[in-house]
Amino acid sequence: MLTIALPKGRIAEETLSLFEKIFDKKFVFDDRKLILRDKEFTFLLVRNQDVPVYVLHQAADLGVVGLDVLVEKELDLVDLLDLNIGKCKVCVGMKNEDELDTSKPSIKVATKMENIARKHFSSKAIAAEIIKLYGSIELAPIVGMCDAIVDIVETGTTMKQNGLKVVETIMNSSAHLIANKNSFISKKEEILSVYAKLSKIV
Ligand code: PRP
Repeated sequence: MLTIALPKGRIAEETLSLFEKIFDKKFVFDDRKLILRDKEFTFLLVRNQDVPVYVLHQAADLGVVGLDVLVEKELDLVDLLDLNIGKCKVCVGMKNEDELDTSKPSIKVATKMENIARKHFSSKAIAAEIIKLYGSIELAPIVGMCDAIVDIVETGTTMKQNGLKVVETIMNSSAHLIANKNSFISKKEEILSVYAKLSKIV
């Protein structure tokens, strides 16, 4: 029996479709239920950012989470497989009319991805003051709270609609299958069997 944490929303649906394909049966959550118990698997529906937490604490053996979250959190987990779904980029964004002024002693950067943002600017020797937000990041430069943002861009619509442009791509991301280190040892056969089946179709 394997427990798998999925991020609520489209990635959960797409992951369940992959499992339906390889096991040739339906995996459907009842309305509003956050747990789905099947003979072989228990699926959990959690917030995207919480997936690695469930896996780290072994409340789930496996999880599906964006590479951006894995890189941001730097947790001690097994990164098993790129599922090639949920593709997006982590980008630096600014107002259309602005340019990055590196002559300033420090620039203000709003983001929910503090570590990625901090490392990115320090690798370019740009002093950045990071302002941590939890969502609607695109609003911050519009109201003058920051010079730039570091955020997820999928279609680019949110930035465009808010008068922002991508000035740099920091990394590409997609959903990865991750495993708890202890589970990877104690349930190795089950996990490798799922891994082998999934890797054939992604
Ligand atoms: C993400 C991200 C952008 C948006 C990008 O936000 O932070 O705001 O999606 O998508 P797009 O390029 O297709 O427009 P999310 O929907 O996760 O909400 P949040 O702002 O509350 O984090």
